[in-house]
Parts: sequence; structure tokens; C-alpha cells
Amino acid sequence: VSQNFSIYLAPFQGVTGFTFRSVYAKHFSGIDKFYTPFFTGIQNNLKLPARKLFELGAPLCEAIQVVPQILSKDAEEIIRFNTYCQSAGFIEVNWNLGCPFPQVADKKRGSGMLPYPEMVDEILSKVMLETSISFSIKCRLGYQTTGEIFELLPIFNKHSITELTVHARIGRQLYKGNTHNEVFGDVIPKVQVPLAYNGDIFSKTHFDIVQQQFPEIQSWMIGRGILYDPILPARIKGLPIPMNEKAAIRRFIDDLYFAYRKQMNDNLSVLSVLKEYWEYLSVSFCNPHQVFKKIKRTNNFDEYEDAVAAVFEQFEWKGSVGIMGSELE
Ligand SMILES: Cc1cc2nc3c(=O)[nH]c(=O)nc-3n(C[C@H](O)[C@H](O)[C@H](O)COP(=O)(O)O)c2cc1C
Repeated sequence: VSQNFSIYLAPFQGVTGFTFRSVYAKHFSGIDKFYTPFFTGIQNNLKLPARKLFELGAPLCEAIQVVPQILSKDAEEIIRFNTYCQSAGFIEVNWNLGCPFPQVADKKRGSGMLPYPEMVDEILSKVMLETSISFSIKCRLGYQTTGEIFELLPIFNKHSITELTVHARIGRQLYKGNTHNEVFGDVIPKVQVPLAYNGDIFSKTHFDIVQQQFPEIQSWMIGRGILYDPILPARIKGLPIPMNEKAAIRRFIDDLYFAYRKQMNDNLSVLSVLKEYWEYLSVSFCNPHQVFKKIKRTNNFDEYEDAVAAVFEQFEWKGSVGIMGSELE
């Protein structure tokens, strides 16, 4: 099996924004591409508001390519976003056809568009005609059923999108239940553009199994597995691992804390953002529930700092070595 593969950090709205990516990239290795959480509401002028500009950041994050993502069913809006991103030096934009949340999907956006191939075709026709930036897609196997993707593949092929990332679930599953790897396997021979796999890679052991299942796949998008264990990409690629993992995680989480305080001018909502991330990070400690509880009940910066110190003193860091997805539930 080839070791010449890429790992992408999956986008997580509210978690993997500019500050997270910047701090992550300073501390850990193994990521080949970052995807931003999705952007929406791109107004009818090419000036993005300060907040969006900040979140887009720069085309490179510590020399790693950043791919902005758009969630939209409006070809004109996608064209505006592509035009902006191209002028700002990005080389690829990703279209979100995977978001499963009912408030999005019910309006035929995100994975809610997957049952409407003619709509996807119409939007792609306009976008590909008007813009020249590389345009990739992240989707699921369908919204209602895993069969929907097979109607879409000829459209993706026809428009020569740059890359297709498939999260091997359907929209109605949200993030639950098993991935449908047998259906992903049926997708492989029908795709004529580079194909990336996404879904439930939580450890090197687990990665090795899925890689053996799909030896043709060169690119792997990983989300929760990396949020749980930031060292996972290095483990998978056999890159150097910190001698003292727990100390490395501590340095990362402390840097992240100070970076958010700086970004958000010491506003207390820094704690909500960090708590959202700790819900993931706590999974790789012994007793995740107690770890998260300690962090969750903090109400000011002093309490948060004390709770973090207590967590690192009292709980063992396990990382993701050897775990399988089924052990996480
Ligand atoms: C809270 C949350 C926010 C997410 N935000 C996005 C997003 O903005 N764009 C996107 O394409 N996927 C988003 N996802 C999906 C992930 O990128 C990823 O596809 C999914 O978690 C499956 O991969 P994993 O099993 O490796 O985590 C989100 C998922 C969660 C749980």
C-alpha cells in the first residue's frame, strides 16, 4: 500500500476556524490541506465583512494550503465567492453538499440538494463557465438514500471538478450510525476526478483497515479523529511523535487559549469556543466524561485555567493509539 497519501483536516463550523488552524499547524504535523468551515451570505459586492475576512485568513497556513468552503444553492453567490477567493490568492474553493442539518437541508442546501441532480448540474454549469479557480465538492452518499450519489457522479465528471470528497453517510444519518463503505467502494470506479474518503477514521489502526479496503484512495479527510487526538495525522503517516504527548497537548491547548483571548479581546465567549473543542479533546483522556465536566462548569478565565491544570494533573492522556470507532460510543 502506498505511503504517498494526503490527509485533510475536515471543516467543523465553530471549531476549525482561522485561530484553531493557525495554532494547530504550529504544534502538529501531517496535514496536507485545511478546509475552512462553510461560508454563507456572500453579499452582492466583493467586499467581505471584517469577520469573514478574518476567518478566511490567508491562502496558506504555516505553508499548508487552505481551501475556503461555501454553502449555497445560488450560482451567483458561489461565483462571487470564487472571484473573491481567487483574487485573494486561494487556489481552490470547496462546495458544501454535505451539511445534514434540517434548517439547511430542508431548503435544498448542503446534503438537501443531493436528491436534485438537475439543480446541481445547472449550478455547476454556471459556476464553471464564470470562474476559473479550482472547484471541488464535499458531499455525502445521498440525503434520503445511498443511491442518490450515482445520479450525481456523471455530473461531477462532466464538469471536471478538481476533487470529490465523499463522507460515506447519508444526510438523514447526521453523524450517527455506520458509514456505508460498501457503497463508497461502488463509487470508486465511477469517479473520473480525484476522490477523497471521509468518515469515522479515529486511529491509525482504523486508518490502516480502511486504506487496505480502498488502496486506490490517495486522499483522506479526517475530522473528529484529529479533534480527539491532534497527533493522529503524524501517527498515521509515521512522522515523529512528541516524546511527551501529554505535555505537547498541554502546550497546544494553552496556546489555543491565549490565541482565542487575543482574537476575541478577552471576551468571556472564549470559554464557549474552548468548551466546544474540549468536548472533542476530552475523548482522548481516560474518563472523558469527567474531564469534560471539569472544563464545562468553568465561568471565568481563572476557573478555566485551574480546571485545565487539574485535568492535566489528574487524568491520563491516552491518545488514539489502537482505538476503533465502535469503542467511542
Ligand atoms: C459540529 C460539526 C460541524 C461541522 N461543520 C462542517 C462544515 O462547516 N463543513 C463541512 O463540510 N462539514 C462539516 N462537518 C462535517 C465534518 O467535516 C466531517 O465530514 C464529519 O465529521 C465526518 O468526518 P469524521 O468522521 O472524520 O469526523 C461538521 C461536523 C460537525 C460534527
